[in-house]
Formats: sequence, structure tokens, C-alpha cells
Amino acid sequence: MRIEPGQPRPDGLPDLSDRNFWIGPRDERATGFRAIRDTPGLPFYPEPLFENSPIERGPGFYALTRHEDVWHVSRHPELFCSGRGGVNIGDLNQELSEFFGSMISMDDPKHFRLRSIVAKGFTPKHIRAVEEQVRTTAAALVDEMLTEHPDRRADFVEVFSGPFPLRIICSMMGIPDGDVRQVFEWTNTILGVGDPEFVGSYDELVTAGLEIFAYAQALGEARRADPTEDITSALMHADLDGDRLSPQEFGSFFILLVVAGNETTRNAISHGLLALTEHPDQRERWFADYDAHVRSAVEEIVRWASPVIHFRRTVTGDTELAGVPLHDGDKVVMFYESANRDERVYDEPQRFDVARPVQPAQVGFGAGGPHFCLGANLARREIAVAFDEIRRRLPELRVAGAPAYLESNFINGIKRLPCVW
Ligand code: HEM
Repeated sequence: MRIEPGQPRPDGLPDLSDRNFWIGPRDERATGFRAIRDTPGLPFYPEPLFENSPIERGPGFYALTRHEDVWHVSRHPELFCSGRGGVNIGDLNQELSEFFGSMISMDDPKHFRLRSIVAKGFTPKHIRAVEEQVRTTAAALVDEMLTEHPDRRADFVEVFSGPFPLRIICSMMGIPDGDVRQVFEWTNTILGVGDPEFVGSYDELVTAGLEIFAYAQALGEARRADPTEDITSALMHADLDGDRLSPQEFGSFFILLVVAGNETTRNAISHGLLALTEHPDQRERWFADYDAHVRSAVEEIVRWASPVIHFRRTVTGDTELAGVPLHDGDKVVMFYESANRDERVYDEPQRFDVARPVQPAQVGFGAGGPHFCLGANLARREIAVAFDEIRRRLPELRVAGAPAYLESNFINGIKRLPCVW
């Protein structure tokens, strides 16, 4: 039986395809996911429609909400692939999904080849250079907050969590400071799909994609001719057994890096400040002995925030999951946000606890397997340094108003977060 989005389901479960589920109160969303986790099997949903998009409504998807199922699917790419229509719910044709998603929308061996080339841009030498950059960028942003906001209030996303990872990834890629604002707008459009504040039409999304692609091509060509120390130069000159990135591959990888390296960390830091404001005992505990808790606190912030809500896989043949038979072409959507709150795995998952054991692992960066987040260590470092800088120089920094959430079933975004210090 086909259930349309917005219609009550006979099983009484919340409707993950209904926009109201995603814009509703967060605690209702948590209760809704819990109800799905507690229901045996895998609920099947119709696909939500993206307004004005040429994407046709596909056959629907199975929702994976338990940690165990997300873990299994992530680690069996031979049964659950990424290269058939992409890793979001609606299908893009493979060309478009590789254009926007690069290797995240590919399977091995194509994915492995790209990831190996790209790993050359993430050598210890590059990451060491970035360490310094992370620290100085955080310090510079706090300086700006102190000098430009004498009344000690501002929008945290605008003054800190937005520019921080953006400046770092742009600097790693060799993007000149004068172009950073433009990159910020392109990535907002690409990841803001569905939120009318960022993207009104599908055409705007495609335009942003083409513009950033053209920008990448020009930058890549400049670095091919005249290499510097940045990742763009490393990628343009990476040579894996004589194999190089084509201009098309470089352009798409560039989009993936600036989008993935930017919005996700921004939202982790915003959610982190919100959680530390709402749980002052946890803030005190962490900040009283920062180093003792930094590792667990960062993992807890990513678990709590789950900046990426879902990724999808497509079933490649007959298999079974949670007792449900699955067949070639079926879509399964892994809801990291729900898996990260699974009471079968975490003790009191609705409690924010900066000293929570780091095992069992949270799945905010993915649950293992070939696509596990390439930037996880960079992101962890950024989050740790951000809160260290805040603790030392803005010890009174707190959220002082309601967050404006991004309207999305994909990115757990906070658009604005009023704060005082
Ligand atoms: C808190 C911040 C971040 C979160 C929550 C996050 C989350 C994720 C998730 C869920 C995946 C997919 C995992 C899978 O399918 O198994 C992913 C992949 C990826 N991430 Fe991140 N990410 C973050 C930061 C970053 C940063 C800073 C970068 C880059 C500098 C980055 C680059 C990538 C890339 C390139 C992939 C694709 C890897 C592949 O397909 O092989 N991410 N990330």
C-alpha cells in the first residue's frame, strides 16, 4: 500500500517524509525516532518531493534508525552501494550525483582510486600545517568578536562557527581571502536545499554548482602551472601510478571538500555551544579539566549534534536486514541522528555527557566502511581548538536566544544562534 507524505500511517509511526517532522520540536523528533527504533523491522516511506525539482519521485525507502543496522550497511558496500543515484533520498542521474558528490557517490574501484589520489592532499605534512592554522584562525575570530562587538553580543554562527571551518578549508585549498565569502554563499545554497532562505529553486542549486565548479577549474589550472603548498596544488600534481585527477574529477572533489569541510563542522560547533549552555554542569566539568575530557567531549558533541542526518545506500542484490527481505534497487536510508541515540548501544543517550565513554563509537562521521569521513580528524581538531579558545578567552560565552534551525532532513543546521559573553 502506498502512503502519501503527510497522511497518517497505519502503524502509527511518525512520517519521515513529511516536512512537519523536520521543522517540529526537537524533542518530538527524538521521541518519533525512538518509536521507529523500537518497532521491529524497517518502516517503508514514500520519498519526499523537492519543490520545483526535475527529480521524479522514486519508489520510496526503508528507514534505518538502529545503530546495528546503520553499522551493518556502512560496512557492506558490496550489498549496499553508493553509486546508483547518489547518497541522498531522491535519485540524481549518476552524472549529476558524481558532479555534486564526487567520490561520496561512487563505489570501488572508482571510489578507491579517487580517495587514494586525494589522500595525498591529506598527508601528515598538510595536516601539521593545518594544526597551526586552526589555532591562529580561532584566535583571530575571538579577537574580532572582542573588538567588533563591544556590547558583547552577536550571532555565534556569523561571528565564529560559520567563518571558522570555512576559513580553514579555504586556506587549505588555497582559496584567496577575498573569495571566501563567495564560497560561503555557494555552499549554503548547495547544502541548504529545501530551506527557502537559501535555495528557492532547483535552478539556483545547479547554478551554484556550475559556478563553484568553474571557480575550481580556474584555481586548479593556476596551481597546475604554478604549485604552492595547498591541497589544490597537491591534487593537481598527485600522481598515482601515472594516474591523475581529470579536470572534471578535480572540480567535483573541490565541491565535496569545501561543502563537507565547512557546514558540518560549523553545525557541530554551534550545537556544541548550545549543549554546553543548556547543560552548565557539563560545561563546568569539561572546562575545569579541559585536557582530561577533550577527547570524549568532542565525540559527545558530534554524537549530540549529528551534523549529517542521513546518507542513503542502494541495495545491489537479494539480502535481509532486521528480518526484512531486500532486493536489487531498494533504497535504505541510514539516519545517523537516530543511531546516535540508540538506547541499545548508549547508556541514557538523551543525556549530554562530556565524559561519555568513546566506545561504542558514535556514528556522526559514518559507521565505518570505505566512505568513513575523510576529514574526521581535522573536524575533531577544529572542535577541540574552538572550545579551548572559548574556554580561555570567552569564559562567559553562552547562547542567549532561540536557535534558528535549517529546514532540512539532511543537514542538522543552525542558521543563527544569538549569544552573549
Ligand atoms: C563534524 C564534522 C563532520 C561530520 C559530522 C562529517 C560527516 C561525514 C559523514 C557522515 C560522511 C559519510 C560517511 C559514510 O558514508 O560512511 C562523511 C564523508 C566525507 N567527509 Fe566528512 N564530516 C565532517 C567534517 C569533514 C571535514 C572537515 C572534511 C574535509 C576536510 C570532510 C570531508 C569528507 C569527505 C571527503 C567525505 C567522503 C569520503 C568518501 O566518500 O570516501 N568532512 N563525512
